Amino acid sequence: MSKVHVFNAGPCLLPQVVYDRAIEAIKDFKGTGVSLLSISHRTKEWEATMEETRALWKELLNIPEGYEVIFLGGGASLQFLYVAMNYLENKAAYLETGVWAKKALKEATGLGNAYAIASSADRNYCYIPKGFDIPKDLDYLHITTNNTIYGTEIRHDMDCPVPLIADMSSDILSRPVDVSKYEMIYGGAQKNAGPAGVIFAIIRKDGLGKVSRYLPTMLDYRTHIDKGSMFNTPPVFSIYVMNETLKWVKSMGGVEEMHRIDVRKADTLYAEIDRNSLFRGTADKEDRSIMNVCFVMAEGREALADEFLAFSKERNIIGIKGHRSVGGFRASLYNACSQEDVDALVKAMQDFETLRK
Ligand SMILES: Cc1ncc(COP(=O)(O)O)c(C=O)c1O
Repeated sequence: MSKVHVFNAGPCLLPQVVYDRAIEAIKDFKGTGVSLLSISHRTKEWEATMEETRALWKELLNIPEGYEVIFLGGGASLQFLYVAMNYLENKAAYLETGVWAKKALKEATGLGNAYAIASSADRNYCYIPKGFDIPKDLDYLHITTNNTIYGTEIRHDMDCPVPLIADMSSDILSRPVDVSKYEMIYGGAQKNAGPAGVIFAIIRKDGLGKVSRYLPTMLDYRTHIDKGSMFNTPPVFSIYVMNETLKWVKSMGGVEEMHRIDVRKADTLYAEIDRNSLFRGTADKEDRSIMNVCFVMAEGREALADEFLAFSKERNIIGIKGHRSVGGFRASLYNACSQEDVDALVKAMQDFETLRK
């Protein structure tokens, strides 16, 4: 079959070597003669994989002493609740930069005093609010560093006078992060960090234990830190594939190199969007995401949208339909998406322009 260019928003493309290793491990996990799908999570072989996965996170993101990395099920959406349960005592603020940020805030308002400190809802989340004051009495400020649906991104580590908590589901491992600036970082793995079914959370240990509410055992981060993410049966397969994905990132030269590659891909596509008379970008230029590139047909050419989707599909370009809440197109350029994939999309845009100008 000829190459398919996959721009899915997540679950998304993973490196071929990761698929290959997963297949091998399903057949025989580490020479045990037992499939990865059947291995007990209490074996030494599995415990070594857990340990190695934590170590890879620490190495790739240069995570300082005092932080721990855990892996859980339930998706990033369940982390919206975990965060509020574990950190919200008096008051928390959320930067409302899209649907995911709003959903995170909703969970917190169900538990206590939480509010949107600033919002970009007035222009359908096409920018990152700036210049807002952060009160010093907050338990935490929650941000979503990359807004997967709208293609905006906070591409730096903010200086924040209160504990900073970040949902990095869709841009983790796309740039070096100064972890010391965050109280905690979390995200679903299913973009740059592996398959669906597992989340990662990077937690400053001494920030826990400060809330007075009752924390159910499973919803207390300390349970999972103490038990090395094995208080209950972990999502073994997803963690294994995450482990292989992290190894691939390392083999590519780490997050600095991923960043260089990702910026080049994004620059290529944004340059074409800005040049091509049939398309226009939707996010403000200064806030453009290097992971999710959102664009629509130019004014007056909207009727061509379906035709462009079909045109692209004929060239094996898939996953570029925009999220249902914004329409248009979205090309997700996560780490495993190659420059060659982006070049194929750019060529399709150029050929479509020649055809329909
Ligand atoms: C930024 C962000 N946060 C949270 C989520 C929700 O993740 P999950 O489906 O794992 O609950 C997504 C999903 O795409 C996302 O992009």
